[in-house]
Amino acid sequence: MAQKAPITSPLNDQDQDTTGKLLQATLLDLIDLHLVAKQAHWNVVGRFFRDVHLHLDELVSTARGFADDVAERAAAIGVSPDGRAATVAEGSGLPKFESDWRSDKEVIESITRALGELIRRLRVRIDESDKTDLVTQDLLISIAAELEKAHWMWQSQLAS
Ligand SMILES: [Fe+2]
Repeated sequence: MAQKAPITSPLNDQDQDTTGKLLQATLLDLIDLHLVAKQAHWNVVGRFFRDVHLHLDELVSTARGFADDVAERAAAIGVSPDGRAATVAEGSGLPKFESDWRSDKEVIESITRALGELIRRLRVRIDESDKTDLVTQDLLISIAAELEKAHWMWQSQLAS
């Protein structure tokens, strides 16, 4: 880090450190979700191509918007966000998304699984941020609410 932190924090050092780590981990998951959803958008094939293709771009926008919110919350508490590709590749907790063409059903299953895992990780961080920063917790809760709604919508496409 630079000699002197250029951005002050409303939090004490320990809370800033813990909250910064929660936000950074969430940032990596959300950037990965955005990349996976775009990959699926380009590679989906099958009977329901158009629905899934368009639905994926909604998820891309959602994930990108939340990644920005989370990165900027980190900056606002004086923590430098790191959204570089190499950092995402190393630190994302999302399940791996296979390359090549993917059937519409496979894509729906993969996205449902990815959202489920992201939400599980996010809910742990919501609990942790309860002790360190309620403003960050509020942001994480609002993100979880939207992602849980998205999870429902993706999951509902698997019902028969
Ligand atoms: Fe497109």
